[in-house]
Amino acid sequence: MSQVKSVLCVGCTVIDFVTINGSYPKEDTDRRCLDGFWQRGGNASNVSTVLRVLGCKVDFFGMLSRSDAFRVLLDDLCKREIGTKDCPFTERDPPFSSVILAQDSGTRTIIHCNKDYPQTTYEDFSKINLAQYGWVHFEARNTPHTLKMMQSIRDYNQRTGQGIIISLDFETRYEQNQELCAPCDFVVFSKELAGQLGWKTPRQSCVELAAKIPESGPKPVFICPWGSAGAGALDANGNYYEMSSYKQDKVVDTLGAGDSFMAGFIYATLEGQRSLAESVDFANRVASHKITGFGYEHISQLGLSN
Ligand SMILES: *[C@@H]1O[C@H](CO)[C@@H](O)[C@H](O)[C@H]1NC(C)=O
Ligand SMILES: *[C@@H]1O[C@H](CO)[C@@H](O)[C@H](O)[C@H]1NC(C)=O
Repeated sequence: MSQVKSVLCVGCTVIDFVTINGSYPKEDTDRRCLDGFWQRGGNASNVSTVLRVLGCKVDFFGMLSRSDAFRVLLDDLCKREIGTKDCPFTERDPPFSSVILAQDSGTRTIIHCNKDYPQTTYEDFSKINLAQYGWVHFEARNTPHTLKMMQSIRDYNQRTGQGIIISLDFETRYEQNQELCAPCDFVVFSKELAGQLGWKTPRQSCVELAAKIPESGPKPVFICPWGSAGAGALDANGNYYEMSSYKQDKVVDTLGAGDSFMAGFIYATLEGQRSLAESVDFANRVASHKITGFGYEHISQLGLSN
């Protein structure tokens, strides 16, 4: 394996209860599903999984639970060799999502239940020895604490001359989370959120986001995956790249495609030392390959060299 440092993924991990149904259930009926399973979910948690499948060393940082129901998540993290050594624990029951997949319409209906599950704080984060990490990836949530965590990495880089890279997965609550962009090296912004803001293209989205960054500091790179249109990326010098997507004949499972894009990008940039355009292209490849199978195992067939 390479000498590259580990990636730390900061965010949440939840239990997904998934049922596969012929059609969407009628209200107030009692029926059986065609198939079902429960598994570990949550965006940062999924990014950790895909990074491991690609061959990165990964730690996850988020609130873990001592509740019996959480064992299945701990076992899965352990089995995949995703480190959790700095995670705080709570006695509370873990958050979960009920996912109803309907085969006839192809819809996925997701109901999140997190019952005020506690989030990790800056104080928890400050106990981590950052020296082991080459990259820290965040979900856009828990804004005040996340901002302090990011700033502490910037301070650490300044103090030690290290260059820990910071990335942000920005998919929700634009107004609230916008200030998280400035301390980042890379921001991946969702098409859905761009749509809500009335931004029509990946280029427009990148430009609007960059315009919000104070002139005084360095500008992050903005990346907007745009579904079947591929993805756009704007670098700090104002160069814009657009990389087309890879078409797939069969679409089997789209859950986690965005997280696969993120992991592919981190892997190509950190482990492969690829350029921005090459890394976005690889991220497109990982995301499009993801949807040809269930789960993430088949992503291990992809490598940077082929
Ligand atoms: C997690 O990812 C899903 C799918 O890409 C997205 O809809 C959701 O908003 C994300 N959650 C957060 C907290 O970013
Ligand atoms: C995380 O991955 C699991 C397994 O593929 C999936 O069911 C779930 O929807 C994903 N979660 C998010 C937020 O993308």
